[in-house]
Amino acid sequence: MASQFLLLACLAITASIALASDPSSLQDFCVADRSTSVLVNGHVCKDPKLVVADDFFFSGLHLAGNTSNPAGSRVTPANVAQIPGLNTLGISLVRIDYAPWGINAPHTHPRATEVLTVLEGSLQVGFVTSNPENRLITKVLQKGDVFVFPVGLVHFQHNVGNVNAVAIAALSSQNPGAITIANAVFGSKPAISADVLAKAFQVDKDTIYDFRSKF
Ligand SMILES: *[C@@H]1O[C@H](CO)[C@@H](O)[C@H](O)[C@H]1NC(C)=O
Repeated sequence: MASQFLLLACLAITASIALASDPSSLQDFCVADRSTSVLVNGHVCKDPKLVVADDFFFSGLHLAGNTSNPAGSRVTPANVAQIPGLNTLGISLVRIDYAPWGINAPHTHPRATEVLTVLEGSLQVGFVTSNPENRLITKVLQKGDVFVFPVGLVHFQHNVGNVNAVAIAALSSQNPGAITIANAVFGSKPAISADVLAKAFQVDKDTIYDFRSKF
């Protein structure tokens, strides 16, 4: 009885890991119907008879994003919010523009693995493995190079050149989500208590107030 329970518990854990990315589709497509207020895990399907080519279409990834911001980068998404036909299909794209020496700050995608390819310039990229090792896996990429950021892990890109850089990345979710570490920790609303952050980062509270003022 106890061993059966253990087996069931193991199966439940395995199943929940297997379902950490978008579930498989049970039909050809399920184009998001934005007109309904019904909430499901994803979007309700539009009547297939009313589906048109534009439901699967997006134009604009040839346009450079505006990198005039403190990080010096801009992400232009093409996910289910822009392309309703991506609903339930477990995939999306982004274009990322980097000013010279710009960064895409350390962040994670809670629902997606990412595969990035460099179209222009040179990028130092990296991700950090989970606790307790926290090993940095990093590489400098040139035009045409491809790099993988496994689901959930903290990762970043840094333009290590005097010219603009451009990358396209595919993500294994219609809605990958993004958690930028600095914004989540120092820019939450309401704020996480300075006592908590001072202990977490092993600095004094004034340092925390200084970080907070920037996010
Ligand atoms: C880019 O963003 C900056 C800062 O928000 C803004 O001042 C500037 O007008 C933008 N440039 C373009 C071409 O939109």
